[in-house]
Amino acid sequence: MPQRKKIVIIGAGNVGSSCALFAAQRQLGDVTLIDIVSGMPEGKALDMAEGAPLGLFDARLSGGDDMGAVAGADVVIVTAGLARKPGMSRTDLAKTNTGIVKGAVEKISRHAPGAFVIVVTNPLDVMTWVTKEVTGFARERVVGMAGALDAARFSAFVADALGVSVKDVHAMVLGGHGDTMVPLVRCASVAGIPITELLSAEKIDELVNRTRLAGGEIVKLLGTGSAYISPAQSAVMMAEGFLLDQGRVTGASAYLEGEYGFSGICLGVPVKISGKGVERIIEIGLSKEERKMLEISAAAVKKEIDEIRGEIG
Ligand code: NAI
Ligand code: 2OP
Repeated sequence: MPQRKKIVIIGAGNVGSSCALFAAQRQLGDVTLIDIVSGMPEGKALDMAEGAPLGLFDARLSGGDDMGAVAGADVVIVTAGLARKPGMSRTDLAKTNTGIVKGAVEKISRHAPGAFVIVVTNPLDVMTWVTKEVTGFARERVVGMAGALDAARFSAFVADALGVSVKDVHAMVLGGHGDTMVPLVRCASVAGIPITELLSAEKIDELVNRTRLAGGEIVKLLGTGSAYISPAQSAVMMAEGFLLDQGRVTGASAYLEGEYGFSGICLGVPVKISGKGVERIIEIGLSKEERKMLEISAAAVKKEIDEIRGEIG
């Protein structure tokens, strides 16, 4: 009898619990939520399991504070970490989350050596690098979720501006997950029609800027915490691409070994996600301006990695 796949989510906060619900609703497998807070992950899992007869999905949901429950996972989504608090520098946050992610992913390499790991914790490209280094996994099996979300935001803004279906809009965003991200305007299209044919340069600039600042826009509106619904949808889309061997093409943070001229860092690039994990990093030609923006973004990510390099031992 075929066994269901096992999806483990580390960090049962806003993003983690939303990932659990979306993965269960899509019947991707059985879902386990793990957090350092005891009780809460069990409670959230039980709440979702009790909703399964209403949502009409077959997935066993469980939760706990024992990292050993990662054992046998096919996919692990890492969302454990702190959000930046007032007075906390980016570097302080990166150091704190490095400690949290390092501790969590060490358990993955020990208990789930065959897992495909999707990192969500911020700073995203740095935490993806930490995961790759600490697990020692092949680069095909470690990926960071950012480009899918950034492109979804760009697509949503384009669809809204044109009054067209989101189903017809496609976009690609490269670079680090932050202010230096590189939305590729020439690759954005509506049913294959370049958006430059449909929107003015001023309007496109406005949408690009809104995309760059979209995470902050939501933080400001929520008052506490950051976006979690669309981030969870993005991470689950990537998990599905792996579990169902779909060959999904999306922007994602991948470990580069010479692609785009960078090595030894994780950075947002177009990837193909199949049953092999990150089966392919897709290299496309860049304009002079895009190339310059990507170099600035890569330099910012490298600086952040260098600041925490000593923390992973
Ligand atoms: P949250 O605060 O709701 O949840 C984080 C959870 O991690 C908490 O439940 C906390 O108890 C848990 N945790 C802390 N240390 C842990 C450990 N050692 N082991 C297991 N669990 C631990 O935060 P939220 O909104 O879920 O965000 C999670 C992370 O994802 C943050 O770093 C956030 O910045 C990032 N994020 C990244 C996005 C992206 O595009 N890559 C988008 C949205 C959020
Ligand atoms: C976002 O882009 C906070 O990284 C998170 O919403």
